[in-house]
Amino acid sequence: MNILIHTHSGLRWIVLLLMIITIFNAYRLQNKPHIPGKNKMNLPLYTLVVFSLQFILGVILFFTSSLVNFSEGFMKNPGLRFFGIEHWLLMLIAIVLIHIGYIRSTRLDYVKGQKTIFLYYLIALMIVLLGIPWPFRGFGNGWF
Ligand code: HEM
Repeated sequence: MNILIHTHSGLRWIVLLLMIITIFNAYRLQNKPHIPGKNKMNLPLYTLVVFSLQFILGVILFFTSSLVNFSEGFMKNPGLRFFGIEHWLLMLIAIVLIHIGYIRSTRLDYVKGQKTIFLYYLIALMIVLLGIPWPFRGFGNGWF
């Protein structure tokens, strides 16, 4: 399962990068008139897809990782509590926000759609940053 952990770990950077580019792009476009045919690239959708892939890898890890261990007193152990509850719960909130934001944006006019993407993806990004087991959080995880 080492390869899965490394893929899940490395994919975080692509997820973060895509989220940041999507947010910047939505911010930039919300103040511009829409020119049909321009900006055909559906960044919010790409981000949603890659995020979902990362989520699925996470679900597989959830059932295979030794860090997910609901033994007695696991709530008192910060590492076990993090991977048993906090990590996936925060990512679940983030993925729901991304889906709601994306679906809403498709039903709105262009400018309101960009504003919706900006807001939902920005909040999701904050939650993802909180939910990542960064090395400095002391759970023994690396940067890649
Ligand atoms: C979608 C956004 C997610 C991101 C950005 C993310 C990111 C990460 C990162 C950076 C690690 C540390 C890997 C390492 O270097 O050891 C990790 C570990 C882990 N993640 Fe996620 N994760 C996400 C979603 C999920 C979800 C939804 C679940 C569970 C349902 C999950 C379950 C796990 C588990 C169990 C580990 C520990 C793996 C191990 O070391 O044994 N992740 N995640």
